[in-house]
Amino acid sequence: SGAVEFTGAHQAGIVTPAQDRLHFVAFDVITKDRDQLAGLLEEWTAAAARMTAGHDAGAIGAVAGVPEAPPDDTGEAIGLPPSGLTLTIGFGPSLFRDATGKDRFGLAARRPAALAPLPLFTGDALESSLSDGDICIQACANDPQVAVHAIRNLARIGMGVVSVRWSQLGFGRTSSTTEGQATPRNLFGFKDGTANLKAEETALLRDHLWVQPGDGPDWMTGGSYMVTRKIRMSIETWDRSSLAEQEQIIGRRKGTGAPLTGQKEFDEIDLTAVGPDGEQVIPSTSHVRLAHPDTNAGARILRRGYNFVDGSDGLGRLNAGLFFIAYQRDPRTGFIPVQRSLSQRDDMNEYVRHVSSALFACPPGVRGNGDHWGTGLF
Ligand code: HEM
Repeated sequence: SGAVEFTGAHQAGIVTPAQDRLHFVAFDVITKDRDQLAGLLEEWTAAAARMTAGHDAGAIGAVAGVPEAPPDDTGEAIGLPPSGLTLTIGFGPSLFRDATGKDRFGLAARRPAALAPLPLFTGDALESSLSDGDICIQACANDPQVAVHAIRNLARIGMGVVSVRWSQLGFGRTSSTTEGQATPRNLFGFKDGTANLKAEETALLRDHLWVQPGDGPDWMTGGSYMVTRKIRMSIETWDRSSLAEQEQIIGRRKGTGAPLTGQKEFDEIDLTAVGPDGEQVIPSTSHVRLAHPDTNAGARILRRGYNFVDGSDGLGRLNAGLFFIAYQRDPRTGFIPVQRSLSQRDDMNEYVRHVSSALFACPPGVRGNGDHWGTGLF
C-alpha cells in the first residue's frame, strides 16, 4: 500500500512490480489550441505527482475548499493509502498527424518512425471506438478505487481539452515484471508472465525495452513504446477443451507452468526436443513456440496485461478476456513480428479475438520539479 516514486529516468508503471489492478484510458484531444494542450500536460503532471503520493488531485483537496465551488478532488480516495499507484502517459500517432494527414499541433516533424499505426493482423476484429487515441494514461494500483480515482480526476481536469475515447478496467495482473513476484494466472487458468522481461535484467531492458539515444527523436530517449490489445477470450469454449489439448495449445503445463520439455516453471524451453513419435514436443502451432524470441528474430517485449470481465454479452457468455499491454524499444522489432507469427498460426486463435488495438509513445520519466509530461515534445 506504499507509494511508488513518480519521478525518475523512466516512467513508473513499466518495470514497477506489476500491481493487481488497472484502469486504462485513451483520450481524444478536442482543443485545437497547442498551448492549451501543453498547459493541460503540466496540470496533469502536478495532479499525478500528488495522487501517486497518496494526496488529493488538487492542492486544496476534496473537502477543504469554499462551499460554493466544486472541489479540486472528487473525494473517493479520502483515507486510502497510495496503494502503489503509478500513472504512465503515452502519445498516439494521431496526436502528430490525424487520419486526414493534418498536423494538428505542429508536432508532425517530431513523430518517431517507430510510432506508425500498427498493421492489420490476420483475424483482427478491431472496433475503432475502442481503439487508438491521442493520449493514453495507464493507472495501476493495488486498490481499484485508487486507480479509478486517478483516471477520473485526470479526465475531470482535462474537460474541454480532452475527452475520453475509451477506457478499460482490469482486475488481476497477468504478468510479473520482477523476479520476486509469483507468476499470476490468466483466465485460461495458465500461469502468465513466466518468460517475461524482468526489471532485474538490465542489459536486456537496455536492448529491448528502453529507447536508446539515436533510436529516434531525443524526446523519446529513455522512453518505451506501449502496445495495447483488448483480447476477448471464449472462455466457455476453452472450458470444454481437454486439459491435454489446453497444454498443447500453450506449450506449458497448466499446474506448474513448466514447459512441456521441463519439470519446473522456470526450466528453459527446449524448442528442438522431439518425442518418440517424431513430433515436436513443443508443438509447431503452440503459443510459446510462436511467441518465443528464437521464432521471431530475437524479439523480446515486456508484457504487463490484466484480466478483464466486462459483464456478460447477453448470449449467456461472460464478456471476458485479457487486456494485453506490452512495452518495447521499438514495436517494429517487438510486438509486430511476434503478433504476426501468432496471428497466422497460433492454435490459441480459435479461442481469442482481438477487438481493440492501440500504440503509444511513452516518453521518459519526469525529472522532478519544473519538469512535466510532454517536455521535449512541446
Ligand atoms: C507466453 C497466454 C497473447 C506474447 C504466454 C504464456 C501464456 C500466455 C499462458 C506462457 C507463460 C509465459 O511465459 O508467460 C496468453 C494469452 C493471450 C496471449 C491467454 C491472449 C488472450 C499474447 C500476445 C502476445 C503474446 C498478443 C504478443 C504479440 C507472449 C510471449 C510469451 C508468451 C512473448 C513468452 C514466450 C517465451 O519466450 O516462452 N502467453 N498470451 N501473448 N506470450 Fe502470450
